Amino acid sequence: MQNLANNSYQVISPARINLIGEHIDYNGGSVLPAAIDLNIKIKIYKRNSNLWKVTSDSQSKDFIRKLNDYSLSSILWHNYIIGVIFEINQIKPKIISGFIARIKSEIPIGIGISSSAALTCGLASGLNKLFNLRLTQFQIINISRNAEHKFAGVKCGFLDQYAVLKSKKNNFLHLNCFNLKLSYIPVNLKDYEFLLLNSNVKHSLSESEYNNRVLETQNGFNIIRKFYPQTPYLCSVSLSEIESIESEFSKKIYKRMLFSVNENNRVNEAVSALKVNDLAKVGKLMYESHKDLNELFEVSCDEINYLVGLSKKSGLVLGSRMIGGGFGGCTLNLIKKVHKEKFIKFISKNYYQKYHLKLEAFAVSISKSLTVRKL
Ligand code: GLA
Repeated sequence: MQNLANNSYQVISPARINLIGEHIDYNGGSVLPAAIDLNIKIKIYKRNSNLWKVTSDSQSKDFIRKLNDYSLSSILWHNYIIGVIFEINQIKPKIISGFIARIKSEIPIGIGISSSAALTCGLASGLNKLFNLRLTQFQIINISRNAEHKFAGVKCGFLDQYAVLKSKKNNFLHLNCFNLKLSYIPVNLKDYEFLLLNSNVKHSLSESEYNNRVLETQNGFNIIRKFYPQTPYLCSVSLSEIESIESEFSKKIYKRMLFSVNENNRVNEAVSALKVNDLAKVGKLMYESHKDLNELFEVSCDEINYLVGLSKKSGLVLGSRMIGGGFGGCTLNLIKKVHKEKFIKFISKNYYQKYHLKLEAFAVSISKSLTVRKL
């Protein structure tokens, strides 16, 4: 085997949920994510060669590149890798020499729990240690977000990268995406837990429609600024301000504006509810969030709406909603532990009957942020 040199590290990088505050991170909104106990593990070593190599147990094609070749690949996960190295090179030029990284992942891809940020933040953190780059956490957050923007073409906000790097066990991270101030909200779920239901649906629309929503909301915000020039960011507008200029927007953009303001308000309500441990209220807000994501922001799909609708009908779930970018993926459910088995049986059976798709269910717990250790 090749000359695997002196130092090596292991990174454990988590997936995330987002309790509420969906699709508002790119408009300065507040979000409530938390890392969960599903991880990508990356072992990373220096190598005396002119190659960068990354292998993954869940992907067939290894990433193998000559040093300083930043050309785009036709394989998406390779582009995340190139993006991270490219972005690091912008800050610390020509330090990253040959390395090999081996990835083992428990995080399903494309289901809305941010496997991509787990990968980009994980790789950036591993390279940081391996090559002693002394990057700050904020630089790693930006490197990962830029990789997503420039190399995967998704104009995402800060939600995922902060969740991966700043989460704390048994806490939600309350992040204001305008000024990036954060605080922690302890969670006491008592006999409840979070359950993810993977619809096994991924619509091809997801990336293009994501970027469309970013554009639509920017357009709406430009209109708001004409009437309320002091407004710093979209989610700081009040409902009455938006209503006062309703006729200035197209119907579609007006819905996007209403959504952004309502969703941001719900985050504040959820924080208050968590502080007094009112889980019923949290659940109610989750259902409301889903309704607006579907009707006003139009980022859900039939299969996910069916799952949320059935969760509500079952009477076994406090709250349910889509999470992440949308157009498929997962629903997040807040459920009493004793009801879990019965609920999974009930919903899987009905879902299969309707869509001939297998539902995957996994209970998750709120976990800590990314860690790096020397091997
Ligand atoms: C994706 C993006 C995030 C965020 C969510 C929706 O996960 O990467 O920045 O916009 O969608 O809330």
